[in-house]
Amino acid sequence: MRILVTGGTGYIGSHTVLTLLEAGHDVVVVDNLSNSSEEALRRVGELAGREAAFVRADITDEAALDAAFAEHAPEAVIHFAGLKAVGESVTIPLDYYFNNVAGTIALLRTMERHAVRTIVFSSSATVYGEHNPTPYVEKMEIGAMNPYGRTKEQIEDILTDLGASDPAWRIALLRYFNPVGAHPSGRIGEDPQGIPNNLVPFIAQVAVGRREKLMVFGGDYDTPDGTCLRDYIHVMDLAEGHAAALHYLQGHDGVHRWNLGSGHGTSVLQMHAAFEKAVGSPIPYEIAPRRAGDLPAFWADPSAALADLGWSTTRTVEAMCEDHWRWQKNNPMGYALSLEAGEEPQARPSMSPHPAPYRIDVTAGDPPSLEQALNRAVEAAIAQALMEGTRGVLVTRRSPCTYTVELSRIVPFGTTLERDESVQGR
Ligand SMILES: NC(=O)c1ccc[n+]([C@@H]2O[C@H](COP(=O)([O-])OP(=O)(O)OC[C@H]3O[C@@H](n4cnc5c(N)ncnc54)[C@H](O)[C@@H]3O)[C@@H](O)[C@H]2O)c1
Repeated sequence: MRILVTGGTGYIGSHTVLTLLEAGHDVVVVDNLSNSSEEALRRVGELAGREAAFVRADITDEAALDAAFAEHAPEAVIHFAGLKAVGESVTIPLDYYFNNVAGTIALLRTMERHAVRTIVFSSSATVYGEHNPTPYVEKMEIGAMNPYGRTKEQIEDILTDLGASDPAWRIALLRYFNPVGAHPSGRIGEDPQGIPNNLVPFIAQVAVGRREKLMVFGGDYDTPDGTCLRDYIHVMDLAEGHAAALHYLQGHDGVHRWNLGSGHGTSVLQMHAAFEKAVGSPIPYEIAPRRAGDLPAFWADPSAALADLGWSTTRTVEAMCEDHWRWQKNNPMGYALSLEAGEEPQARPSMSPHPAPYRIDVTAGDPPSLEQALNRAVEAAIAQALMEGTRGVLVTRRSPCTYTVELSRIVPFGTTLERDESVQGR
């Protein structure tokens, strides 16, 4: 089958593309690279032994989508593309509604023009809101609590109306719980920009020395160890859930909703302990006050996915942590920097008396990609600096396309090089 995957260079998308290629499907990825790297797709091709086609385009751009559909003639779509940070969605709601909701409408209009009426959509457990008892069941009333969640809810409504308007549509709404882990090769994984929003990428960055300690928000909830319980799902289980949903849609029209989760809760401290075991050394953490809007505990009732799709999770929390750690330690700065095969990173940096300047030359196309390339290159140099144990760096711009990163000229190196700092000297 020919499948168009929006957001296919992202975290869940890249793992799903790999699963699809391995199952013999042809894949074309449409992504604007706003939160991902084309390197992910190159590595997916390496792992699968064959490539997915790539179209760099924004899903809000119907002309670009038309061209991609005309060239690649997909028979179905898996739609991951979207902005996904809850906190950010509160600050810039219009960007979220435009990107996620208007982007989906543009995609659906394009699908209709090209008579492609099979779609699997990335929804989220966040649509269940705060009023439902756990475990969540698909038939419950939904009611998201923030703009990000409401974009998912609105897209679910749009897809439901579309399905009701024409029986030719075949629609799967997949409500993911908390995806973690990485492909067991350690070649692809989650590469969050800036400060991670999710627990496991945060723990992993502490373990690799990019951050000082894990902040555990709330240690006094009414849960067995006082910390929040979530339903974690290995990203490869999630990827396989998409293949199963797509397979189901081959034989069924209409609109279908499935929870993709494990069916049980794991606490923050349990996850932290499992990650420490995977790393083999202690990972510092601190209990901080509760965070507004966090629910104490929720998990999925995944029985509908089992009954309809024959799908359930098979990978344990231990496997999630081992795989996530393999990815993180081999790629301390995500796709910006990788260690050679067999090279062992230090789990935590130590001080070294040998600072040396690193010079980065970056030449890249148009301004957004140039800026992205610069950010990644500067981050790579910082990672190098960390490996060597330096505590401070100064980033200066030498020419329009060249940055120099000098070590041990002390610019406070909190935990990450944020966008504004990385373009310092402009
Ligand atoms: N990761 C989670 O915890 C989680 C949980 C529930 C649901 N989801 C949903 O799953 C989907 C994938 O999540 P992910 O974790 O892989 O995120 P991600 O950010 O890694 O991937 C999303 C991809 O979409 C691309 N993209 C964003 N807007 C685009 C646009 N307008 N045009 C083209 N490409 C665009 C990004 O560049 C990125 O590659 C998202 O829709 C997200 O809301 C994620």
